[in-house]
Amino acid sequence: MEQCAAVILAAGEGKRMKSKQPKVLHPLAGIPMVAHVIRAAKAIGATPILVVVGRNREVIEGELKSHFGDSLHFVLQPEARGTGDAVRCALEAVPELSGTLLILNGDLPLIETEALSALLQTKTAHQSKLSIMTFFADNPQGYGRILRNSSGEIVGICEEADASDEERKIRECNGGVYAADVEALRKWISGLSAHNNQGELYLTDLVAIAAKEQSLSSLTWSFDSLRGINNRAELAQAEEIMRERIINHVLNNGVTLQDPKSTYIDIDVVVEQDVWIGAGVHLRGKTVVRTGARIDAGSILQDTEVGENAWVKPYTIAISSTIGEGAQVGPFAHLRPSTILGPEVHIGNFVETKNTKMGRKSKANHLAYLGDGLIGENVNVGAGTIFCNYDGFRKHTTIIEDGAFIGSDCQLVAPVRVGRNAYVASGTTVTRNVPEDALAIGRAKQENKEGYAPLLRERLRGREKEDKS
Ligand code: UD1
Ligand code: CA
Repeated sequence: MEQCAAVILAAGEGKRMKSKQPKVLHPLAGIPMVAHVIRAAKAIGATPILVVVGRNREVIEGELKSHFGDSLHFVLQPEARGTGDAVRCALEAVPELSGTLLILNGDLPLIETEALSALLQTKTAHQSKLSIMTFFADNPQGYGRILRNSSGEIVGICEEADASDEERKIRECNGGVYAADVEALRKWISGLSAHNNQGELYLTDLVAIAAKEQSLSSLTWSFDSLRGINNRAELAQAEEIMRERIINHVLNNGVTLQDPKSTYIDIDVVVEQDVWIGAGVHLRGKTVVRTGARIDAGSILQDTEVGENAWVKPYTIAISSTIGEGAQVGPFAHLRPSTILGPEVHIGNFVETKNTKMGRKSKANHLAYLGDGLIGENVNVGAGTIFCNYDGFRKHTTIIEDGAFIGSDCQLVAPVRVGRNAYVASGTTVTRNVPEDALAIGRAKQENKEGYAPLLRERLRGREKEDKS
């Protein structure tokens, strides 16, 4: 395919979103809406890719650099004076650019790569200087309307704000995606004026100019690919469409979804074949679920890797963690960032972990807090154990070596180390290192008073009577 450059318009104020956050950064399936547009442009090999930014320049640049590194060329449009002005700013920033330029509104997250290549093909096939995309909508409100003459040729675009009642009835709309000859564009754009109801330079006015020069072509595509996002309702609709696409993709790859309608999967999540996903599961960010794993109902995983055949039981929350092959986690477990669970580890209900590594086959099955821990293989951590990792100023590490056994209700006051195969008795507060093979026991000695229970009961019953009288 012909080489082309792309410009993405992202300098608008997005007032209709009613948000402090720039419109084009509002996320859809886990990434900013404009990132979807940029990905589509990248996928057809467009280069350079220019992004026009405005008042929110810093936030947008910062966020997009985290996704695309230095591969984008940012251009400042000092004032949001309209889409025509935005393209003018872009052209001025690259005076050496020639050939074909793809122009994309930044608020079209559902645009697909195929649509862009089809548009470029249309332009080439018609040898036109400008090619535009149109769509039909049952409710075209808000979009620029396509004006055609009696022979059906496009003669211009009329923006909603400038449209007559008759024109507003037109259901064919401007998609906001254009392919243009850079040279013609430079010439046409210098002639744009802001004589319209919004006082802006409309990129869409170029359509009438190109039509006059007999150098316009168009391609009609689906509304669902060309929906523009101007408000939160449109954002919600787009999210739903995107979600359905991702769900279908996952199902086609051999994954079982117990209830697709309640399953939420971000665009960059990888789910391998023969994974089973229960109702109400959210897989976010860069989560990866390896083959044979089972993610049970209500679990929320963010940037987490789940190993082969692992079982994440209901209502588990995991963030930036790794769950080893064949491990079992939950129900109601909370894995906080930098938790790394080895193969066949078991984490049970109401266990919270953070920055903790657990070796093969180690277990913490009930009610524990394991923060800043380094736990070897085959370690058993009893119910109610707490790693006291924080002294109010700094975090400290608890090390438990292979084969050690920590009884129930122990506190390990870090920094502290429990040696290989050592045994810590239930209820012990460990403040000193425990050597290999040692037994650590730290609790008050128990005393049994023979026959004392009936006496005690008698006394307590007496008090109860006094209270009632
Ligand atoms: C625009 C089109 C309309 C089309 C619709 C498709 C114009 C004049 N109208 O309308 O015909 O049907 O998209 O969705 O082009 N932007 C800038 N600088 C500006 C103004 C806008 O960079 O000064 C950017 C915005 O960030 C946005 C894009 O351009 O990503 C489109 O702007 P928006 O205000 O959303 O245009 P619409 O009113 O939707
Ligand atoms: Ca828009």
